[in-house]
Amino acid sequence: MKVLVATEKPFAKAAVDGIRKIVEEAGHKLVLLEKYTSTDQLLEAVADADALIVRSDKVTADVVAAAPKLKIVVRAGAGFDNLDLAACTEKGIVAMNTPGQNSNAVAELVFGMLIYLQRAGFSGASGSELKGKKLGLHAFGNIGKIVANIAKGFGMEVYAFSPSLARNPKLGDQYGVTAITSPEELYDKSDIVSLHMPANDQTKGCINYDLMSRLPQNAIIINTARKEVINEADLVRIMEERPKFKYGTDICPGNHEEMVQKFGVRYLSSSKKCGAQTEEANVNAGLAAASQICKFFATGDRTFQLNK
Ligand code: 3PG
Repeated sequence: MKVLVATEKPFAKAAVDGIRKIVEEAGHKLVLLEKYTSTDQLLEAVADADALIVRSDKVTADVVAAAPKLKIVVRAGAGFDNLDLAACTEKGIVAMNTPGQNSNAVAELVFGMLIYLQRAGFSGASGSELKGKKLGLHAFGNIGKIVANIAKGFGMEVYAFSPSLARNPKLGDQYGVTAITSPEELYDKSDIVSLHMPANDQTKGCINYDLMSRLPQNAIIINTARKEVINEADLVRIMEERPKFKYGTDICPGNHEEMVQKFGVRYLSSSKKCGAQTEEANVNAGLAAASQICKFFATGDRTFQLNK
């Protein structure tokens, strides 16, 4: 079988080497398409692929249509809003992700961004500390749980809201966080909010003016999730109204230039999404993807299938 790794943002070399080893030892062939710059290159590369490993690369209906031999696509990572699951299902293609494999890297970045914003962009101006601050985790999956753990090391008080916690608040005790039963209450209680929800029809634009205005004047929002979850016009409005409000994001917003011009060091955006861009996360997610594909071909295993 031909396994194509198509990554516009490539994995670390150690991850590619590990993927190759797993794929070749299972008797398959590995083909790499890295740093591609046009969809046409992807469409051409998938033409004879039996399996596909991607990161945030968009697997659209066009990509699926251009890949008549494709049997399985694995998103090496957590969020799968880049996969057209309906198109995969229609063609009988199994779609999977690798949940949890890159979570630690993303969780660590949350604190990198927070400290940068708390310390006025390392400018030498007086900043503030994380100790004693109330951290609200909006969603509590694999990343949120690690963020909670690290936050406790900083001496923060941790609150979390997610639909599963709202249904079962006792789950919070297990992780030493206070479970909150509504987003409104989470924003009422928090000094800092870190976003960890997927982008889907329920979450798009859900961080709106009403929620943000519940935070204190000098609040910080950190977004390592997806840009679609925040209402960008509402964010500009709240940051204009509140001269100490800060926003850090790993996903460049649509209004980046406006944010830079209006808010200076109160705004931080990665130049390219880098939450999961560590060698460790690349190895964890990449090797998991390769193993899932080989297992699927060997035994039909469908653990982590998304389009059931
Ligand atoms: C994920 O959903 O796993 C993260 O957002 C990482 O995405 P990336 O593989 O594009 O860095």
